[in-house]
Amino acid sequence: MAELGFEVIGVDIDPAKVEILQSGRVPFYEPGLPEVLARNIDAGRLRFTTSISEAAATADIHFICVGTPQQAGANAADLSQVFGSVQALAPHLRAGALVVGKSTVPVGTAALIADQLAITAPDVEVAWNPEFLREGFAVADTLHPDRLVIGVRGNRAEDLLRQVYAPLLADGVPFLVTDFPTAELVKVAANSFLATKISFINAMAEVCEAAGADITQLAEAIGYDPRIGNRFLAAGLGFGGGCLPKDIRAFMARAGELGAEEALAFLREVDQINLRQRTHTVNLALAALGGSFAAKNVTVLGAAFKPDSDDVRDSPALAVAAAIHNAGGNVVVHDPKALANAARVYPTLTYVEDVNEALANAELVLHLTEWPEYRDLDPGALPAAAKQRHLIDARNRLDPQLWRAAGWTYRALGRPTA
Ligand code: UDX
Repeated sequence: MAELGFEVIGVDIDPAKVEILQSGRVPFYEPGLPEVLARNIDAGRLRFTTSISEAAATADIHFICVGTPQQAGANAADLSQVFGSVQALAPHLRAGALVVGKSTVPVGTAALIADQLAITAPDVEVAWNPEFLREGFAVADTLHPDRLVIGVRGNRAEDLLRQVYAPLLADGVPFLVTDFPTAELVKVAANSFLATKISFINAMAEVCEAAGADITQLAEAIGYDPRIGNRFLAAGLGFGGGCLPKDIRAFMARAGELGAEEALAFLREVDQINLRQRTHTVNLALAALGGSFAAKNVTVLGAAFKPDSDDVRDSPALAVAAAIHNAGGNVVVHDPKALANAARVYPTLTYVEDVNEALANAELVLHLTEWPEYRDLDPGALPAAAKQRHLIDARNRLDPQLWRAAGWTYRALGRPTA
């Protein structure tokens, strides 16, 4: 918003985060974001505070961007941060203000918030404006989105948001105006489709493996059909992160509450296919090591849930690393950016910053997050700590010929064994 020319105040309840941001640093890894942050702080358009009263007092538009994680022990979303921030904001709203939800919420939440605010702040409007950015591409996806969706109950909210996004509308970004429930559903429908696409190709990978076929060629071949498209067809260890897994689960839970459980029964299968890739990868690792992890040196390449991110929330890579560690393996984990976050979640694993050092004693290497630098590894130049060395490429991105030529056994998910 500051980059678009607005005066912006960011509010968070965590003073440490506010201090880091105010000093021009980003408390997580996101390419391009530090530059945007510094530029806008320097220009005087952007600052940060823990004081919601001070921030809200001068603002015309309030974006709610808090997290909606999965509830502990349940599939549903935990909305405490959404309702907490609305409650904190309510007493400070000026007449005519607009509250815009960006958080991913169960359908029906925007109406609840609007009804609540109507009691204490009757002149305030609510809109729902779901966020579609991908981690790793956050800046580009925000400034050049595929589309903007706003759910509104009245023209004034639409007019204000047309003003907010005027530069993007001038660039031709599609702008869809809907009611509240449609806008809320667009977000979870989009993420469910993406998750389904990944689990579809992973299901095909399971069949390929059983039949001796190659999933990478199959995916390329079906992807040329423009109705299918070649994006999001990378078979492998499956999806993780702070969005796709918890969003499909929360969507199923909400559909159940609405009496539409059957409509989303397929998402349970999508979730299970996804989780099965993790178990399958552990089983391939076990088979490569002759049936036991005990005292075996295993190196895991990648801890983040995907490359270009330091996010380890529901990371498939870390889940596999932890499973092998728990089964007795000596697991060493490398990642270019996510080691500090990984160490907070699984403090008992061994983390090594230098990739060559991480690989030095490996009997088995698992390629679990496809950072580009892992493609540049020269398997021939790696020290031979064991007589027989094994590679499992759970992201289907390394070159089988290169690794086999250097004396490694190469296994991938959904590809022929030799
Ligand atoms: C996702 C949505 O893409 C984004 O629109 C939404 O706003 C938030 O959730 P993100 O969580 O950043 O974004 O990650 P994404 O790039 O979608 O990848 C999700 C997971 O799927 C990753 O773990 C990735 O490794 C995996 N993936 C992706 C595959 O396994 N295969 C693919 O072909 C693509």
